[in-house]
Amino acid sequence: MAGTARRLIEAFQRKFQTELVPRVYRAPGRVNLIGEHTDYNLGFVLPVALELACYVAVAPRDDGWIRVYSANMDQERSWPVEALEELQRSGDWSDYVAGVAVQLHKAGVAIHACDLYIDSEVPTGSGLSSSAALEVSTALAFLDGRPMDPLELARICRAAEVEFVGMPCGIMDQYISIFGRRNAALKIDCRSLKFDVVRLPERAQFVAVNTMVKHELGSSAYRDRVRECQEAVTRIQSRYPSVQSLRDATLEHLGLLDGVVLKRARHVITENERVERFVTAAARADLVEMGRLFVDSHRSLQYDYEVSCEELDFLVDTAIAIPGVYGARMTGGGFGGCTVNLMAPSVAERFRQEIAAKYRERFGFEPAFYPVVPSDGAGPVVV
Ligand code: GLA
Repeated sequence: MAGTARRLIEAFQRKFQTELVPRVYRAPGRVNLIGEHTDYNLGFVLPVALELACYVAVAPRDDGWIRVYSANMDQERSWPVEALEELQRSGDWSDYVAGVAVQLHKAGVAIHACDLYIDSEVPTGSGLSSSAALEVSTALAFLDGRPMDPLELARICRAAEVEFVGMPCGIMDQYISIFGRRNAALKIDCRSLKFDVVRLPERAQFVAVNTMVKHELGSSAYRDRVRECQEAVTRIQSRYPSVQSLRDATLEHLGLLDGVVLKRARHVITENERVERFVTAAARADLVEMGRLFVDSHRSLQYDYEVSCEELDFLVDTAIAIPGVYGARMTGGGFGGCTVNLMAPSVAERFRQEIAAKYRERFGFEPAFYPVVPSDGAGPVVV
């Protein structure tokens, strides 16, 4: 981490032709173990923060401008601080940065002129939450040491995505990027916004596999799902007014629904239950049950929620046929991105070889593998 920060400082100085030593902030990506598409329904999720993170180096300027360079895109953008209120969405990576500045400003935080140098290890479009990592690291850089309540920080970063970028996401990604814990997952209650630390069994090895595809359908389908869930709530409410979100709904309420809306609600209700059962199984170190819940979650996302795709299904089906693999499921929004796989550490190498070979044979290119090492949430990097 410190090595990455040192490299970033040098790159910052080269890029901005300065001897100033910038400060460096880090915010991790995440893998959600279980509880998919439940956050915006105010249910439960169980993510872990990853070692893979977005790093931002920041130093002040004295001319009233914010200048931002993305090393990943090799692109630069700049805005006068004075014009923050008039900033418009541009449809690219810089919206996340601009959105954070705008939302911080709206929350009453003074935004100062500065140079930002961004370098992220979180692969984009992979379902590992590269956008939340970018938002949170950027927000810390704008704050640059000024304190902020971490929950407010998560809300502001989410608002950047919902209001400025225009993606109606839940709060899971920003929350785990901030609150993540080394060696643990967090069971987040997306209604109370409180969490429990969940220790994972030592024998459990989690590996994320990237399909390396991101189907275009993704963001419009996400909006459709949010709307369909809302419709389910409206219909249930007509009989049971106390049901405020699908978090409050139970399988008995499904009798009031039909068609697609019934399937969407069934996924959310059963997925919330699976989170609880997974946490109980993890406490017993029952890897077989944890794996079974992974597969049930995937099938529910595949058939009821309909957010999977051929590549994700292939990875899951191939993985669970390997002896020693307890379970696999898609993670994140879907339509591409990653699967998360649970296995005994001794099979990890065989898993990698077999998945890589079979995936290449089927799709003509290699998937990428990431060890899931639960890490701490966002903060400054001390060099
Ligand atoms: C995306 C969103 C999250 C969450 C997941 C699905 O990652 O940003 O808020 O809804 O999809 O669980």
